[in-house]
Amino acid sequence: MTLQGKRILLIISGGIAAYKSLDLIRRLRERGASVRPVMTAGAQAFVTPLAVGALAADKVFTELFSREDEQDVGHIRLARDCDLIVIAPATAGLMAKMANGLADDLASTILLATDKPVLAAPAMNPKMWSHTATRRNHATLVADGIHFIGPASGEMAESGEKGEGRMAEPLDIVAAAEALLDNGPKPLAGKKAIVTSGPTHEPIDPVRYIANRSSGKQGHAIAAELARLGADVTLVSGPVTIADPKGVTVVHVERAEEMRDAVIGSLPADIAVMVAAVADWRVASASGNKIKKQPGEAPPPLLLTENPDILKTIGHHAKRPKLVVGFAAETQNVAENGRSKLQRKGADYILANDVSPHTGIMGGDRNTVKVIGKSGDEDWPEMDKQAVAERLGTLIASHFS
Ligand code: C5P
Repeated sequence: MTLQGKRILLIISGGIAAYKSLDLIRRLRERGASVRPVMTAGAQAFVTPLAVGALAADKVFTELFSREDEQDVGHIRLARDCDLIVIAPATAGLMAKMANGLADDLASTILLATDKPVLAAPAMNPKMWSHTATRRNHATLVADGIHFIGPASGEMAESGEKGEGRMAEPLDIVAAAEALLDNGPKPLAGKKAIVTSGPTHEPIDPVRYIANRSSGKQGHAIAAELARLGADVTLVSGPVTIADPKGVTVVHVERAEEMRDAVIGSLPADIAVMVAAVADWRVASASGNKIKKQPGEAPPPLLLTENPDILKTIGHHAKRPKLVVGFAAETQNVAENGRSKLQRKGADYILANDVSPHTGIMGGDRNTVKVIGKSGDEDWPEMDKQAVAERLGTLIASHFS
């Protein structure tokens, strides 16, 4: 619980993503933080102060000129009596006010009066995010020292439009808050780590590809955690819709062969954690042109060929990192398959998990893993992927102390 005892002032501004702030409050409190909510007028059109206050177990502040609140707490105290201010969602309008020092309601006044770190999770329509005015405001705020998480890309809740503008997921916001407030020990300082994450896309032709359901949530959380512990982290990510974690070098790739090249190109390293769900096969010869459906003709056969096994390559490489960790997504015989993978791939640990559809692990937020090591197995209870990352970080650090 790295947020234990931390006081977070959460500003919720008016966007459809405000519903995710309810979950964010729970996640922050789960980690031991207290959450004091401030809502703009717009936010109250999307979620009620009653719901926000109930989840936060605190009073919700909404008015700048509330005689009662000003006598009781006051906007200056709200701005100062916290360790971190989180704005989630941060609308284009609130960002514009901040960038220009406008203070015309409680939220914007607090943001002008504070001397605490501020973490903003923007959420808006992709056109608003890419608008030159928002680009300008964002650049100003970054230069002013405001920290940002996201937005991620994907489908918008209200319009179905696709693009950058979705609010970062609550767990990513929590991780960013933890990173900002962290002044804990750095047992991996001076160590270099390579992490793979996400699926790979193997082209069939220029418009079609073979993919899998990996979201990248677990791999990204591990990359961020190793960075938090002081490691210099390179994250090689397949195509995902979640935001790049803070504080790590991200290399974006699509195909398994590109992923292998990026991983090998990042050697030497002390630690390799191969979390990506690399496609086992690719299409033997992807077509340079779109394969056309011909009336009356049988469907074209899809001839597959094996992809490089990145974990195995690293596990047996001349520059093998001191510690090599793999994952094993299984739907049956989890322990046996995991153990044989440990041998075959030359790994020090395999984190095996059951990805049968009923577990909801693939793409979900939670994970149940069995850690298979050279000297035995250990079952970890079900926990969220961030917690798995923290526990793995501790295990990895124990090898370097
Ligand atoms: O053999 P399997 O795909 O189950 O092994 C899973 C582990 O191997 C994961 O750590 C995954 O990242 C890695 N892997 C890889 N390259 C492949 C296939 C799997 O690095 N082509």
